Amino acid sequence: MRQLPAEFFSTPYRFYRELRSAGPVHRIGLPNGVRAWLVVDYDAAKEVLRHPDIRKDPNTAAGAEARHAASGDSGVTSANRRSSYHLLNADPPRHARLRKLVAPAFAPARMAALESRVVSIADELLDRIAAAGAARVDLLEEYAFPLPITVICELLGVPVEDREQFRDWSTAVVDVSMSEPGAMRAATDALVEYFDRLVALRRTRGLGDDLISHMLTASEDGDRLSRDELISMAFLILVAGHETTVNLIGNTVLTLLTDPPRYRALAEDPDSVTPLIEEVLRHNGPVNIATLRYTGAPITLGGTEIPAGELVLVALGSANRDERHFTEPTAFDPGRPANHIAFGHGIHYCLGAGLARLEARIALTRLVARFPGLRLAVDMDELRWRESILIRGLLELPVDPGAGPARPPGAPVASTGTHVLNRIAD
Ligand code: HEM
Repeated sequence: MRQLPAEFFSTPYRFYRELRSAGPVHRIGLPNGVRAWLVVDYDAAKEVLRHPDIRKDPNTAAGAEARHAASGDSGVTSANRRSSYHLLNADPPRHARLRKLVAPAFAPARMAALESRVVSIADELLDRIAAAGAARVDLLEEYAFPLPITVICELLGVPVEDREQFRDWSTAVVDVSMSEPGAMRAATDALVEYFDRLVALRRTRGLGDDLISHMLTASEDGDRLSRDELISMAFLILVAGHETTVNLIGNTVLTLLTDPPRYRALAEDPDSVTPLIEEVLRHNGPVNIATLRYTGAPITLGGTEIPAGELVLVALGSANRDERHFTEPTAFDPGRPANHIAFGHGIHYCLGAGLARLEARIALTRLVARFPGLRLAVDMDELRWRESILIRGLLELPVDPGAGPARPPGAPVASTGTHVLNRIAD
């Protein structure tokens, strides 16, 4: 059995490469002593993500046992259970039922209608950075975080003033989930209580054009979300909808800043943003390991037998660098086909992928247009990564906004040259 090495959080990709060379699936020990099977190659990852005997529902006896082993803790509060009835914890046929009820809220036309609002939010944040005039700014704190959390708060219909509080709860749910179950439970309880009150308010004070109101009224053939399903969905959308997008923006800015001509080229050609974001999703995407799964029956995976009731983790960040699937996977190449699995695969494929892509596209194009001289304010070796097995993202992204007018349109851009990306993510 392998242990996650101490440097896993800063450089997971070296460890993954070593594992892939030894086989597609490995027994590993997590920092909190929990054991799981880690799936590291592309084909096996896809197989697990659509395998009928791989389960997610923690509210079954086998699921509870597997999760219990994962949390290393026996106390599950009732509020915690109330956060667990969402899509990412549902197996067929309940999953299809839930997805049918909430998918219309994420329809492409609804997401496209958000575009001008996302642009305004991005511009307001950039105005604030420009007005402060500081030579050093944490771009995660001032831009990459407030953009998606504001969008998600507005979408859900929660007061934007509460976003700092949301951030703390959400971070506690994501970052400590593998080490401090007590803190994770407390944050989960707080979020459940918050959404419970919000749903009660919607019922008494009337509905709006927000996601919570939409989910309250959604029905399919007379079927509706139960109160706990609704609260769980709001919980999932809040956490899944910003932790990931923050770090897609952060990881993309970092990628560009390690290759300044590429950053400037984006200002010249904003349409190049789409393949660029797809390649960041593959090369250094914000979801490192997918959410917990367990075997509902014994399965054989890449020649390895896994008994029933065992935890299975799919390393998306490894699958997306599988040399059997991608040519020169450590190279950053926006020209390659976008067939990564950064948004998952199968029935749990990300419901918010369209929104995430929209936010990242706008965040990047507005940033480069406003601050064409932006550069990293620290040495690459000083950057620190979050200690989460789920999220791949920085703790801070210090930049120098680089005052000065934008280059005149049409001015020549230097060649992209050799970049140092592999230092970030190798
Ligand atoms: C860059 C941003 C994002 C990335 C990389 C991402 C990634 C993922 C991944 C990998 C999954 C599947 C997890 C698994 O199977 O274990 C997933 C599911 C999901 N995501 Fe995202 N996500 C992003 C943004 C969002 C946004 C903005 C929202 C909503 C506002 C969202 C909502 C969801 C939901 C509801 C699911 C569960 C779908 C289901 O179980 O049917 N995500 N996401």
